[in-house]
Amino acid sequence: MVVLAGVSKWYQNQVRILNQVNLELKKGDFLYVVGGSGAGKSSLLRLIATEERPSSGTIQLFGYNLSTVSASTLRAIRQSLGYVPQDVRLIPDLSVFDNVALSLSLAGQRVLSAQCKGKISELLNRMGLEPKRDHLASTLSGGEAQRVAVARALVRSPELIIADEPTGAQDRDFTWSLMDLFLKSSAGGATVVLATHDREIVRRVRKRCAVLKGGQISLEEALSLY
Ligand SMILES: Nc1ncnc2c1ncn2[C@@H]1O[C@H](COP(=O)(O)OP(=O)(O)O)[C@@H](O)[C@H]1O
Ligand SMILES: [Mg+2]
Repeated sequence: MVVLAGVSKWYQNQVRILNQVNLELKKGDFLYVVGGSGAGKSSLLRLIATEERPSSGTIQLFGYNLSTVSASTLRAIRQSLGYVPQDVRLIPDLSVFDNVALSLSLAGQRVLSAQCKGKISELLNRMGLEPKRDHLASTLSGGEAQRVAVARALVRSPELIIADEPTGAQDRDFTWSLMDLFLKSSAGGATVVLATHDREIVRRVRKRCAVLKGGQISLEEALSLY
């Protein structure tokens, strides 16, 4: 599903943010990416989300080598993944509902069926956003905007979910609701990569961890030290 082989990343001759990273994830795997601020969590997730290219090494998603795929295959790959960027990136002058709906129309559904609309409503409801469905994204709090970004990523039922500190702006209740959604997706067969620096999550929901340090990752089964 996801294979990184000898992946390095650096910007303009600077130090290597990632240095020869190897990683393999299978369908249904759930992986935390942990590490201190500036360790390279977001950089790693951007590479997996096809937002950036590695400086060297190869990344395979769904069996395709990203450095050699055609533009149309890359589009199809992007439609099969749900990415929650750390900086959220909603469209400010669209409503909450339309920000989520756009994710479906970009995936090719121009006219949303009643079923799709129902799915959006259900997700918004679970995230406590239904009362704000017609509010402009620009009027949301940081936590609300982050939940919209999660809804936008999950509404297509992606096979690969890449979430960058998706609970960073949430209180405890919403943190566990969001974790529940990610775990259910994983149980349903989606592969989940979740960057976090929330020790309580990692302690309470035990999953494999990729610990980033000095540009390299070490895999730990369920992090006991963290
Ligand atoms: N576009 C960029 N240009 C130059 N340096 C960058 C860029 N993006 C990230 N970095 C640097 O890469 C390092 C890792 O950043 P990041 O991946 O955001 O870490 P984390 O998400 O773990 O906090 C940081 O030192 C950051 O300053
Ligand atoms: Mg980050």
